[in-house]
Amino acid sequence: MLLQLLSAVVASLTSFVSLSFLGVFINQLVGGQAKQTGFFLLGAFVMVVFLLNAIGQWLAVNARLQSQALNMRARSNMAKHLVEVDYTTFIDGEFRNRYSATKTGLQFTGGFEIYINSFLNQLVTLVTTSVLAAGLVVTLLVSRSPQQTVLAGFVNSPFFIVVLVILVVLPLLAAVFFSKRGSAVLDAFFAANIKLNQVLSYYFEIAFKSVSVAKTLRLFDPKDSFLDEANKQVIAGVSTDTELQLKYNQLAGMPGLITGACVGALYILVASKALTGAISVGFVVASVGYLQVLILALSGLFNAWGNRRAAMRTIDDYTEFMAMGEVGAQPGLPLKETAKFRIQFEHVSYRYRGQTGLALDDINLRIDEGERIAVVGPNGSGKSTFVKLLIGLIKPTSGRILFNGEDVQQLDHIAYQRLFGVVAQDFFVFATSIAENIVAGTSPRRQELDDSLRLSGLADRVADLPAGSRTPATRELDAQGVSLSGGEAQKLAIARAIYQQPEFLVLDEPTAALDPLAEVAVYQNFDQMIQGKTGLYVSHRMSSTRFSQKIYVFNQAKLVAQGTHESLMAENGLYAELFNAQAQYYQDNA
Ligand SMILES: Nc1ncnc2c1ncn2[C@@H]1O[C@H](COP(=O)(O)OP(=O)(O)O)[C@@H](O)[C@H]1O
Ligand SMILES: [Mg+2]
Repeated sequence: MLLQLLSAVVASLTSFVSLSFLGVFINQLVGGQAKQTGFFLLGAFVMVVFLLNAIGQWLAVNARLQSQALNMRARSNMAKHLVEVDYTTFIDGEFRNRYSATKTGLQFTGGFEIYINSFLNQLVTLVTTSVLAAGLVVTLLVSRSPQQTVLAGFVNSPFFIVVLVILVVLPLLAAVFFSKRGSAVLDAFFAANIKLNQVLSYYFEIAFKSVSVAKTLRLFDPKDSFLDEANKQVIAGVSTDTELQLKYNQLAGMPGLITGACVGALYILVASKALTGAISVGFVVASVGYLQVLILALSGLFNAWGNRRAAMRTIDDYTEFMAMGEVGAQPGLPLKETAKFRIQFEHVSYRYRGQTGLALDDINLRIDEGERIAVVGPNGSGKSTFVKLLIGLIKPTSGRILFNGEDVQQLDHIAYQRLFGVVAQDFFVFATSIAENIVAGTSPRRQELDDSLRLSGLADRVADLPAGSRTPATRELDAQGVSLSGGEAQKLAIARAIYQQPEFLVLDEPTAALDPLAEVAVYQNFDQMIQGKTGLYVSHRMSSTRFSQKIYVFNQAKLVAQGTHESLMAENGLYAELFNAQAQYYQDNA
């Protein structure tokens, strides 16, 4: 900030010194004074200007770096917010839209950088220039011609001042007029650009670069219709972009033309003072030069004022984005210690933001420590929503979840979540080593690492790798990395959950990517994975329930049945229907 201001001051000072010197030098030439003084003056001048320029450059470069750092800081704050914000806010579309708008805004409007760089800079330039110019302008105004001619009469009259003021103010009015129009165009330009950037990054940075999309495109889109669509949108975007830029440049150029004309007129006006003997020739050059600097400073300020709107909007977007959602642990009560914990759902319903229907409708159930539970039901019946509520990722829209009789909302959130080890349906493999993916930030324990690799069924694969579990788990950052198949990646996610040795292991459809043999292995290892602790296994495969003592059946947002495999089969309800249908399917295909 200080650098910005200093840099503007030095820039003004440099033009002041140059112009003043020019005035003095011209006077010497006109007066025919000794050449030696002239050369001495020239030498001194060159040195001073060189010095000022050097300082000015240094300040300007550092100021720019500083304001760039400001934008980088904003970007990293945003990334932090993405990571830390509560899950409910994160999955809200509005949150992510605001993120893209702000990110694009920072990139294209300059955001914080533009605001500080151009607006404050111009403001300081104007103040410095005015202070430095004051003496010259006053001298120019009060100097009087001793002659009696008509021109001298004009020069000495108030009209002279009126014309001078008009010539200074006119460019300013032009700047205001055109910057208003220009800033409307600039707004449109930024809006179009944000959209264009979204299209560009969606198609070219995300979709066309993703391996799974590449497969889809090759298999289903032989005519490249998606590429055509992308190109169409990009071409349309670029042409709007160009049009608006041209328009803006036309508008932005006008004040410069008008300023040029006015400065020409100013030279004539002020020269008339010199002609009538009121001031010296050198003074004409210096003062008009300085008036020009003043005019530029003024119109620059107005321009910056006009341009700041888009930047301000980005800063607003940023502030709003950063204020969205909850960050950090809310204070809560410590978990109540009991011999065996129990978790109860009391009339729990959940509705996703922006949805009309309930994803879960009036769920009542009780889980006791040590149970092995299966949750089954068709796609979309609410199983994963149930899991997210259970592990405290989302809060019930209505109803309560109790841990040892106390509402989970009142409890220390982190301590509660730490009970659970979870394999969600959508897991992510980081580009770090396999071991780092599994220990996930905790200190590595060799034995547990080996156990989790064995139980998840990944041990043989890892043993075959030249660097073992130190091998990078993807190739994205390291060509030496391993390219895991979908099923292997899923096993890695399972190993990660087991490694934590959680009180309560939750697997949400962990076998979707596994082959039938690997799937059976996961069922069979489930007991060992939970090591006598609590386990919950979500699946739409009915066969998975055989390893569980207690089964919950979800259908269309409701918990429709619960019991053991035998009791549910005896009920002959949805469970038996689904089980028989799948069993028959497997038998028919066997
Ligand atoms: N982030 C979300 N936003 C809006 N609706 C969602 C979201 N996630 C899931 N749903 C909806 O909630 C319902 C239950 O989904 P889910 O719990 O994932 O089902 P399951 O895991 O049983 O397949 C579905 O209708 C689904 O479309
Ligand atoms: Mg699910």
